[in-house]
Amino acid sequence: MFESSLDSDTMPGMYPQTRLRRLRSEAWSRDLVRENLLTPKDLIWPIFINDGYSDEDIPSMPGVKRLCLDSLVSSVSRAKKLGIPVVALFPATPSKLKTPDGEESFNPDNLMCRAVKAIKQEVSDIGVLGDVALDPYTDHGHDGVIRDGDVANDETIEVLIRQALNQAEAGFDIIAPSDMMDGRVGEIRQALDESGFTRVQIMAYSAKYASGFYGPFRDAVGSSGSLGKKGKHTYQMDPANGNEALREVELDIAEGADSVMVKPGLAYLDIVYRVKETFKMPTFVYQVSGEYAMIKAAAQNGWLDEKRCMLESLIAFKRAGADGVLTYYAPMAAESL
Ligand code: PBG
Repeated sequence: MFESSLDSDTMPGMYPQTRLRRLRSEAWSRDLVRENLLTPKDLIWPIFINDGYSDEDIPSMPGVKRLCLDSLVSSVSRAKKLGIPVVALFPATPSKLKTPDGEESFNPDNLMCRAVKAIKQEVSDIGVLGDVALDPYTDHGHDGVIRDGDVANDETIEVLIRQALNQAEAGFDIIAPSDMMDGRVGEIRQALDESGFTRVQIMAYSAKYASGFYGPFRDAVGSSGSLGKKGKHTYQMDPANGNEALREVELDIAEGADSVMVKPGLAYLDIVYRVKETFKMPTFVYQVSGEYAMIKAAAQNGWLDEKRCMLESLIAFKRAGADGVLTYYAPMAAESL
């Protein structure tokens, strides 16, 4: 019955003529027909930095450290040797410099600015991405300024503009707003252009979800203690929503984003796929701190093969349509490729 309904001229053959295992039977054949490829050029390495003279462990991210500036520079030259095109910097701001409105974010001598200058002095031809949001600088741990009990959108943008200009001035190549305020991409683009930074790119954290997987990151930059249990649900996206992500991305593109991002990664592969299919934009995905911690913890218990599961998660992002991945595994992945 089933067999007779097939037209043998137009339909692919069926078993026993067709055996999909034939192409899988030898390594050379699997190599030949592989659909997606991961290379070091697909990786962006997020690096935490501190304001001290030695590196510090991050207990919830074994294998990742907050680097002092000397180690940062050697790590970035290692990244370059490994073929990683971009590093992303995240500062652990000393708590005495944190304020309700995050003024340290636009201090021209802040940790981020000193870090990018140190990199640019020693390492050439590698992109440096600066995250733009206020959470590393506010004493309450939110990504913006608080007015009447919530993060105030437009006033926050005023500070983000100063932060973005400060970073562009210091030498960052890519400005990556991760704050999820409405309208910030357009305002930052305009401010950059008016100040002559027409070559500085904007990679927008466009579809950024209010996620539990950011937990270890907040330990790393020291924003968790102050943030408490309040969460960021009034500005980051509801994990239940998919169509809304397309609206976010569409607006960021209209406002001038050069590339867009989905975050976190594995739990949001459908969003990566839809964003790439819909907009055909350079699309990035962030394998966030909690995703790293999950693989790492299972590996440390001997429950998972770390390298294999890491590479499997990274190729999943490529398969879903991502052009590149921000991952704490970047150096380990680049080394094993
Ligand atoms: C800050 C920011 C966060 C991350 C990147 N930029 C945390 C947050 O929004 O609370 C998360 C990265 C990670 O978990 O690895 N705006």
